[in-house]
Amino acid sequence: MNMLIIGSGGREHAFAWKIRRSPKINQLFIAPGNAGTAEFGTNVEIGVSDFAAIGNLVLEKQIDMVVVGPEVPLVEGIHDFFLADERLKSVPVIGPASRGARLEGSKDFAKQFMIRHGIPTAAYFSVTKDNLEEGISFMRSLKGPYVLKADGLAAGKGVLILDDLTQAEQSIREMLGGMFGQASETVVIEEFLSGIECSVFAITDGKDYKILPVAKDYKRIGEGDSGLNTGGMGAISPVPFANAVFMKKVEQRIIVPTISGLVKDNIPYKGFVFFGLISVGSEPFVIEYNVRMGDPETEAVILRIKSDLVDLFEGVAQGDLANRTLEIDSACAATVMIVAGGYPGAYEKGAVISGLDEIEGSILFHSGTKISGNDVVTNGGRVIAVSSKGEDIAEALRLSYLNASKIQFKDKFFRKDLGFDLLS
Ligand code: AMP
Ligand code: GLY
Repeated sequence: MNMLIIGSGGREHAFAWKIRRSPKINQLFIAPGNAGTAEFGTNVEIGVSDFAAIGNLVLEKQIDMVVVGPEVPLVEGIHDFFLADERLKSVPVIGPASRGARLEGSKDFAKQFMIRHGIPTAAYFSVTKDNLEEGISFMRSLKGPYVLKADGLAAGKGVLILDDLTQAEQSIREMLGGMFGQASETVVIEEFLSGIECSVFAITDGKDYKILPVAKDYKRIGEGDSGLNTGGMGAISPVPFANAVFMKKVEQRIIVPTISGLVKDNIPYKGFVFFGLISVGSEPFVIEYNVRMGDPETEAVILRIKSDLVDLFEGVAQGDLANRTLEIDSACAATVMIVAGGYPGAYEKGAVISGLDEIEGSILFHSGTKISGNDVVTNGGRVIAVSSKGEDIAEALRLSYLNASKIQFKDKFFRKDLGFDLLS
């Protein structure tokens, strides 16, 4: 079959790498892709939100399935767009329609969903300009720190955590006043949960599900988890504290009620569910839902999936996921993200990358690169994810660090302490 992947990051390169290995695939297209995805298929210069152009490409190239990487087109309704077009509605889209995508697109919707279905999560109150006073009383009833979340998509930046109550009250007003544009017209005030986080992924056809390898990402730019939040500076899989006992609780208390909650709420859902979890004294709580795979978690997790991902996608599309197999490699995987100097603040693009041919024992997944003449150049803050497998996490990290040091471009940076919190 012919397949189209939507997106341009390390996650999409990892999908392309894995999908290309499937005997079921004939032609592979990536829109818009990057210098890395070009190795496995044809990049097409179409933006992820240009549904009309994506639809035309699907018809022109006789594409049989579309896999959506990032959340924005899902929240904006790419799946609905396909279903509403007579010529496109038979082409399966892996990724939920906009109603299901609200689990990520609206934090208030996600909280209501969790409360309705008894899924453990932090206590919350949603405020708008109309019920600000009630919201502030709720916040005063909490112990700090105070967690404030823009309801809508804010490119991963919409969460503020403040120690001081007066400061938090001020921040709510600023958020409602447009700090994140429309996304913060509603603000979710949350109880602060103290614990350690991990990312659990499931793939579902809307009735049945399969649990993919668990991962942990490192979001802060600085060592020891200090400094600004980024899109993710690396990931490891599996996660030592997410052992069988913990994962059983996750499945029973979170995954099962989420999938059955979608059924009860009459929300068809075909795609990935990403459970952003926190373990509070070994009890799992949901911090957030995402309706896609994580990045950079995918770049680690993909190395541990032995089965044909395309076969699983067919199970999702045809509604017989229960009959497909997911085999997971017991080896460990680690991803180290190399970023541009200055990221997550201002950074340069267009620096020539060298050393790409010297890699041994790791796989490079490009995040922000493009081809320029004969060179591969930087084209984003997160540039290249260096992924490796090993007998244990330490070995996987060792390989990723060894190869990350061989890649050169002006002002490159990567964290050298991944796993610091988990490995003794
Ligand atoms: P989110 O965008 O919802 O994933 O939030 C970003 C980050 O803020 C999470 O990865 C957590 O580290 C932190 N966070 C979010 N909600 C809470 C909470 N209720 N308690 C503690 N930390 C939180
Ligand atoms: N790594 C977290 C995310 O993809 O949102």
